[in-house]
Amino acid sequence: PKRVRTRHFQNAKRDGIKITGLTSYDQLTARIFDEAGIDFLLVGDSAGNNVLGYETTLPVTVDELIPLTRAVAGAVQRAFVVADMPFGSYENGAEEALHTAVRFMKETGAHAVKLEGGERSHKQIRRIVQSGIPVMAHIGYTPQSEHGLGGHIIQGRGEGLEQLLADAVAVQEAGAFAVVLEMVPADAARQITERLDIPTISVGAGPHTDGQLLVWTDWAGLTPGRIPKFVKQYADLAGVLGAAAKAWQADVSAGVYPGPEHSYE
Ligand code: KIV
Ligand code: NA
Repeated sequence: PKRVRTRHFQNAKRDGIKITGLTSYDQLTARIFDEAGIDFLLVGDSAGNNVLGYETTLPVTVDELIPLTRAVAGAVQRAFVVADMPFGSYENGAEEALHTAVRFMKETGAHAVKLEGGERSHKQIRRIVQSGIPVMAHIGYTPQSEHGLGGHIIQGRGEGLEQLLADAVAVQEAGAFAVVLEMVPADAARQITERLDIPTISVGAGPHTDGQLLVWTDWAGLTPGRIPKFVKQYADLAGVLGAAAKAWQADVSAGVYPGPEHSYE
């Protein structure tokens, strides 16, 4: 299959073809999603919650994400792989941001990086893009600034809309090839999608964007507890795996497993 490149994102917007993305943190899911035709895989710092067992994304480090990103990038044939820059790896300025982006590109085989923030990350995005590394921007609700935003709150409502529009324009001007809109009202996302030349990717931003992205563990029914309203569950993997574990344990207890066909002479 022909590799997805940034040009594919631009063409998809032009042609009205929806772009699809899922997070992935390992080579098993990367292979499955790639073969299913998902356009891009984000090795999100949501690995903090979903793989590493942290409560938030804040403690996640570059050193933790690099092996996960390498696993995903090494497993795909077609999908575009985006490395998520964790909290504390780019806020200090353009040079720090470039240093982190270069590490991901050299050490993982990812095809682009993503970082949070609109106007506030303008310099960082510009510096990375000038060095030949594609940047996916991320505005609206940005989990790394949860405490600054005052919680897991929808962005771009009321007076917040103007800031959201300014952020969208800022990341496009800085050279981002696409922008993730997280948890913003569908109508705000529609306005941004119409205003921008670069494609918009919705995570809880409604249907009017150029593409959709979800955290795969939410979507596949692995995340314990409440999942966000905007997630539609497409599988019940927790149920499937839990039932498999119980069935295997029962077979072992009953002496049914391993049978002769699972044993060596
Ligand atoms: O880390 C992540 O999974 C993300 C997406 C939800 C946008 O940044
Ligand atoms: Na993230």
